[in-house]
Amino acid sequence: MKKLSGRIVIVTGAARGIGLAITRQCLQEGARVVMVDLRMEDLESARESLKDVPGDITIKACDVSNEDQVKELVNSVKTEFDALDALVNNAGITRDNLFMRMSFEQWQSVINVNLTGTYLMTRYCTALIRKSSAGRIINLSSVAANGNPGQANYSASKAGVIGLTKTLALELARYNITVNAIAPGFIETDMTRAIPEKAREEWLTKIPAGRAGKPSDVADAVIFLLSDAAAYVTGNILGVDGGLGL
Ligand SMILES: NC(=O)c1ccc[n+]([C@@H]2O[C@H](COP(=O)([O-])OP(=O)(O)OC[C@H]3O[C@@H](n4cnc5c(N)ncnc54)[C@H](O)[C@@H]3O)[C@@H](O)[C@H]2O)c1
Repeated sequence: MKKLSGRIVIVTGAARGIGLAITRQCLQEGARVVMVDLRMEDLESARESLKDVPGDITIKACDVSNEDQVKELVNSVKTEFDALDALVNNAGITRDNLFMRMSFEQWQSVINVNLTGTYLMTRYCTALIRKSSAGRIINLSSVAANGNPGQANYSASKAGVIGLTKTLALELARYNITVNAIAPGFIETDMTRAIPEKAREEWLTKIPAGRAGKPSDVADAVIFLLSDAAAYVTGNILGVDGGLGL
């Protein structure tokens, strides 16, 4: 029995990394997935890479930090499906720098995508999700929400996501919508491949499980939170980090 048969799920930042793994597993569980990312070309190649998985994929280019684009995206989902069961706010960026050198542009761009993007997508999707009998919102936070040198902007954005998640869990429970966050540790994607080799090695020595995470480790947790098994789970921050955040 597939866990998400017939559910309609939006995944942002779906063209690669964790978002692509989430999309793959949602399709395997029978969901119809709306893949959202910045560039149509990237979405087209991502869709091509999913050819081995049967399922219904729609691709939409949208910058989640742009209110007009988000409105247009959600309107198009409303027109095409007139329904939405779940939103996975996965799109995220880093612009690392030590705080004393961090430019306003580096600060603002990360807050805009990671925190305001999560707000905008949730704000415009919630009316549609309210009509679902099993509404789900899942936000991607990070172990870095607890603080990480060189990531004041990213850490603040991901801590903000936790506050937003908990408040939405309180406000939306009455509409049968659960809202949870996942806080990954060090996951092998383009985001972490950009970290200099020496720093990457240092990170790896700190992970109690002794290995980096895979995008599929995070997707497994997303599938649980989307499934009926998690119907009574809301307002939680689920670490997927091999113990790194302990
Ligand atoms: N990789 C890790 O170790 C790790 C750890 C903790 C949290 N996370 C979080 O998990 C999520 C996914 O990370 P990842 O490692 O797969 O990153 P990634 O850089 O590999 O992929 C991110 C995707 O988001 C898209 N994106 C960026 N800005 C966007 C925007 N404004 N609108 C729409 N799409 C946009 C990118 O084009 C890309 O496809 C992020 O929120 C990240 O902060 C990752």
